Amino acid sequence: MKHGVSEIATGVIGGVLLVMGFLAVEPVAAQESIAVRAQMVKGLLPADDPNAAVWSSVAPATFPMSPQVHWPTRILEATVRDLSVRALHDGTNVTILLEYADPSEDPDDAAAIEFMVGDKKAHFAHGQPMAQVEGGPVNIWYWKNKDAKGMDMNAKGFGTLSVQTHQDVKAKGAYANGTWKVLFTRPLATEHPEEDTQIKTGGFINIAFAVWDGKKDISGELKEKGSQKAISSWWYFRAEAPPDYSGYYYAALAVGLAFGFQFILIRKLKKGQSA
Ligand code: HEM
Repeated sequence: MKHGVSEIATGVIGGVLLVMGFLAVEPVAAQESIAVRAQMVKGLLPADDPNAAVWSSVAPATFPMSPQVHWPTRILEATVRDLSVRALHDGTNVTILLEYADPSEDPDDAAAIEFMVGDKKAHFAHGQPMAQVEGGPVNIWYWKNKDAKGMDMNAKGFGTLSVQTHQDVKAKGAYANGTWKVLFTRPLATEHPEEDTQIKTGGFINIAFAVWDGKKDISGELKEKGSQKAISSWWYFRAEAPPDYSGYYYAALAVGLAFGFQFILIRKLKKGQSA
């Protein structure tokens, strides 16, 4: 069977496009429902504005919250049932936005994020040592409405919660239409690896959440405080690595090679036809 020059060229280009298609396919994201993924952005991080327009283009990860029933003093029903989390980083700082429903704005409304510190596994209950497991410390980022700032804290078990002498965490809350948006920001890496979680791009680390509804009951007692709050167990957090464009470079190289090969082939075939 004889093939014309243009048929061969079409075949070669088709093959190249197929190769490019394979190279350009993004890997399917794993663990999407259990991980907060902070994409890297170029330019300004919306670190001061929980209502910045850019947040609406970031997909949230939603986690169930439950009343803290594990240790006294327990609470059998907490206001917040679930929490949406969005995050972004710029290679230097990371900013994490918590969003949850709360029917009223109160001065004692509060929220917190927790991480492990170092290599030791820690329990999400403040890194409380468990039977036969010493566990490690945890780093807690705490925001309270009436304080209007973030607090960088550590704990290794109950009764050990302390405010760090150096504060790297900033936080800002915005309340509207029965919804709290609370934004936490910190450098990915700090100079205190013994106390602060260190966030390297491209890896998964554990993250847990806590929310307190600062409403008071008829007797003036806070509905939720201290151990009485809505909590999550450990989930995952990942600061995405900068995008890898090497697949596109290889595709461009393949196109170049294919065109070179096609050029030589066509010249040879033309020579053959005119001989
Ligand atoms: C089973 C899980 C948990 C238990 C049993 C628990 C228990 C407690 C207890 C007993 C206190 C009183 C202070 C102390 O003893 O150190 C407390 C306070 C606190 N907890 Fe937890 N906790 C849990 C999970 C969490 C999580 C996941 C976070 C952060 C994401 C968190 C953040 C805090 C903060 C910031 C305070 C201080 C609140 C204040 O000053 O009113 N806790 N918790």
